Amino acid sequence: MLKDSILFWLTLLRAIRPNKTFRDDSYYLMCLSEGITCHPKAVCQLDKITNSFYCQCLPGHVGDGINYCQEPAVKVTVFNESICDGTGKQVCLLKKMPGENATLRVSVEGTYTPDQITWYKLYSSEGPGFHSYRERLSPDLLPGMGLTEDNQALRLYHINENDFYPNKFWVEMEPYESPSQLVKIEPYDFTGFDLLNPSQLRYFFVLERMPIEIGEFLEGDTIVIELSRYLNVSPSSFVQWVKEPKNWTLLGTESSAIANRTQELKVQGVTHQDFGYVRAIVYDYIAKIPVKVMVAQRLFLLKKDISKVCQGPRSENNCKCNPGFEGNGIHCVDTDECLEGMPLTCLPQASCINTYGSYACWCPEGYEGDGLHSCIDRDECATGAYYCNPKTICVNTLGSYVCVCQSGLIGIGNHCRERSVWTPWSPWSICALQCEHRNQMRIRLCTHPESGMRCQGPSVELRPCPVKTSCPVDGSWSEWSPWSICSDTCSGLKKRIRLCNSPAPAMGGLPCPGQNEVIAMCKSVTCPVDGIWSPWTAWTPCPLSCGLAVVSRSRQCNNPGPAYGGEICSGTAYEEGSCGFPEEFCKYLVHSLGRFVPGKLIH
Ligand SMILES: *[C@@H]1O[C@H](CO)[C@@H](O)[C@H](O)[C@H]1NC(C)=O
Ligand SMILES: *[C@@H]1O[C@H](CO)[C@@H](O)[C@H](O)[C@H]1NC(C)=O
Repeated sequence: MLKDSILFWLTLLRAIRPNKTFRDDSYYLMCLSEGITCHPKAVCQLDKITNSFYCQCLPGHVGDGINYCQEPAVKVTVFNESICDGTGKQVCLLKKMPGENATLRVSVEGTYTPDQITWYKLYSSEGPGFHSYRERLSPDLLPGMGLTEDNQALRLYHINENDFYPNKFWVEMEPYESPSQLVKIEPYDFTGFDLLNPSQLRYFFVLERMPIEIGEFLEGDTIVIELSRYLNVSPSSFVQWVKEPKNWTLLGTESSAIANRTQELKVQGVTHQDFGYVRAIVYDYIAKIPVKVMVAQRLFLLKKDISKVCQGPRSENNCKCNPGFEGNGIHCVDTDECLEGMPLTCLPQASCINTYGSYACWCPEGYEGDGLHSCIDRDECATGAYYCNPKTICVNTLGSYVCVCQSGLIGIGNHCRERSVWTPWSPWSICALQCEHRNQMRIRLCTHPESGMRCQGPSVELRPCPVKTSCPVDGSWSEWSPWSICSDTCSGLKKRIRLCNSPAPAMGGLPCPGQNEVIAMCKSVTCPVDGIWSPWTAWTPCPLSCGLAVVSRSRQCNNPGPAYGGEICSGTAYEEGSCGFPEEFCKYLVHSLGRFVPGKLIH
């Protein structure tokens, strides 16, 4: 009975070894020897009925095990592995205390609906012949629990005694949306196959509490642990004591039951193998489950006294302190080798750390060695313990390293920029068909302006185009010739000319613009000029308001006046007219309008 129970735990323990590549394929060679090659996602299994070997796809995978094993469409992993105090391929171990809160959160990749995510609590039973039981937590949670909306996190608001390992929690992807009528509690046993070969569809969480340290003991001592000092054990409880090889048992590989059905563990004549971890597991009935299941447990650390050795019973005569301790042989206290005045053997540059019963020397950062005899600069560049980006090269320094920009780059550390350099010159610009472009040009650019560097020298160069012989020449005028002679100084015409010959148009060039001759009157300053009247002046104002009066205007022959014997103007230079109204009309106006109206000119 005991053996089966232990086997069960052993199986679980193996499942959560830290070696994540571990896979249980114990029949591997059997299949091979029978000429069966399993698919990489399958393991060899023994069919106990036919006693033959076959390949079975890993949990969650579907296929014939030989030709194909299809991966699950969904992958469940812990959301944040760094919160786990220990992990295996599908297990997260959390160090907790009763009464604390915990969040068990997974991350799910793939296509699924939140309804497919189901959380369970597993109650491990006393076994054998008994099943363990699992309780479906979603959608109806136990008191003190909560689920996030996406079902990916289960919150425990008050961790109970029976939440700890070997009980455990897990989340599993159902292949379909969970039906509304669900089995709340059912017997459930893991097979080794399920446990050892992660399915990608399931993830475990295991709670562990800090061990209770007991001791310290010398070999030959008697150790007694009374469980009732640490928890309440009812008379109906079944207590099992299990020896576990190391801290965080879940990650270990071996454990064995050392006592059963006793609330007190007694080890007489302790030997070296007895030190270490011992777990007391208390099984009892709880309301909803028909068998005894784990209700509480305690992990104890039995500590060895390394401070002294005794020959026979403990007394000052029989005992003496071990090196690293000082005292009378009964009471031995750790020597602080790092204190001033101690005969220190760490190198001066190393730091001394006192440990229980000894001390350690730590080389400074960037150095390696035992700190006692040597602290040698670590070559981070050679050992790959550096980060330099691809634009830089690693250069080892004493105690550290630096990243230096590769040639062609400038900057400091990992901030390297391209150097500014001239691009090659562009080709010369074309000396075009147009004969007037006399220069040709080429340019170059200073690259990587972000470097802040300047390139030396000009960015533009000019040079004359080769002289062309067949360019078109536009015509251009000569100077004007002198005026031609006038035959009569006061009448007749004169002219002057110019020639399109300075130069004449050639090779299709344009002709000269404009006229090539100008004609003008022959007129000297002494020719006779006839007089012309100026415009008339305005009429003089009408002097009367009522009655008739005379007004006048005049003009002058000065526009121009006659000169050099020219004619004088013909006609009169003075004119008169009349203005105003007759007396009677005037009176009538004053009478009828009641006011004065100024006279108006009448001609
Ligand atoms: C994971 O947990 C650690 C420790 O609690 C925390 O510092 C980190 O931010 C978490 N990472 C994410 C992605 O939540
Ligand atoms: C646990 O969660 C509850 C509810 O959010 C809160 O009131 C309580 O303070 C938490 N306890 C601890 C120990 O964080």
